[in-house]
Amino acid sequence: MQTLIDPFARPITYLRVSVTDRCDFRCTYCMSEHMQFLPKKDLLTLEELDRLCSAFVHMGVRKLRITGGEPLVRRDIMTFFRAMSRHLDSGALKELTLTTNGSQLARFAGELVDCGVRRINVSLDTLDADRFAAITRWGRLDQVLDGIRAATEAGLRVKINTVALKGVNEDELFTLVDWCAAEGHDLTFIEVMPMGDMGEELRLDQYWPLKDLRARLAERFTLTDLAESTGGPARYVRLKETGQKIGFITPLTHNFCESCNRVRVTCTGELYMCLGQEDMADLRAPLRASADDALLEQAIRAAISRKPKGHDFDYSRQKVQGQMSRNMSHTGG
Ligand code: GTP
Ligand code: 5AD
Ligand code: SF4
Repeated sequence: MQTLIDPFARPITYLRVSVTDRCDFRCTYCMSEHMQFLPKKDLLTLEELDRLCSAFVHMGVRKLRITGGEPLVRRDIMTFFRAMSRHLDSGALKELTLTTNGSQLARFAGELVDCGVRRINVSLDTLDADRFAAITRWGRLDQVLDGIRAATEAGLRVKINTVALKGVNEDELFTLVDWCAAEGHDLTFIEVMPMGDMGEELRLDQYWPLKDLRARLAERFTLTDLAESTGGPARYVRLKETGQKIGFITPLTHNFCESCNRVRVTCTGELYMCLGQEDMADLRAPLRASADDALLEQAIRAAISRKPKGHDFDYSRQKVQGQMSRNMSHTGG
């Protein structure tokens, strides 16, 4: 079986699969407060998700990340994790992981470990309970902190993802860094991207370029650039004083598209070749058209052959450019 290579000679080895568009939070930069969710009949079944992911693994995908919405609110999702763990056992898949808001971890951490998950990413933008409630609208900080603790106790490594928001969590930079050092978590900051229908002005107002954040960090710590990569878009530094690793995901200030190795599938089977472009391919129709995977594989190859060079996000002219109309929850980040 030939592996997937896109028109810019980038091997596609990382698949992100959104298993639900639903979430128990309503983060302001991700969703509007009153979201219309997809009818259940439009969703791929867990069996279809299995077939789809297995086809990708067969075509050379080595890293599978389950996202959402919030992946752990999908009914019976552990059945799917368990099914995917067979690809870890066979050695075909190197990593099975998820990105979660942490709310359900207390319930699922143990089972995730049983399914071969070793490392998870948890979104957490603040350690202040009121602020957390304001950002997530519906979330409770305590529930997430309990979840993170349960994950650590179950043996999972936790990486915290923090969206850098000017005027919102700017003053918590060192609090977050210190907390992660004390708890033993890696930490990655993300520049806020123009996704969904949230007001343009708000997005620009909240944009905190990570080169500024990095400069602030350097006032207190000695930073050493690391060459290592987890296969994701983050670049890492080590803080000499604490030994901890800090990542930066900089779609705006430093485009990392040249090394893009990933594509995304939504919960209805749409394959997005880039987070920052509208083009997608429907995989549900070929999946449902026959029990054989030939049509599906053909549709995947056709889509990869038109993967674009990169996104067009840009705030540099004091205007939001490259804006995507779909919400981040649609493609899972
Ligand atoms: P690691 O395995 O820990 O490296 O994870 P990761 O960074 O690949 O995954 P995670 O879900 O933690 O991604 C963090 C965020 O980075 C995503 O939610 C997106 O917001 C952003 N991101 C990931 N991939 C891309 C990409 O291809 N383009 C852009 N613009 N942003 C991305
Ligand atoms: N810009 C940057 N990151 C975002 N996330 C959600 N919406 C945005 C946005 N507009 C992050 C979440 C989570 C990950 C899946 O994507 O905080 O960490
Ligand atoms: Fe839910 Fe994550 Fe979106 Fe927040 S960022 S609303 S936790 S999917």
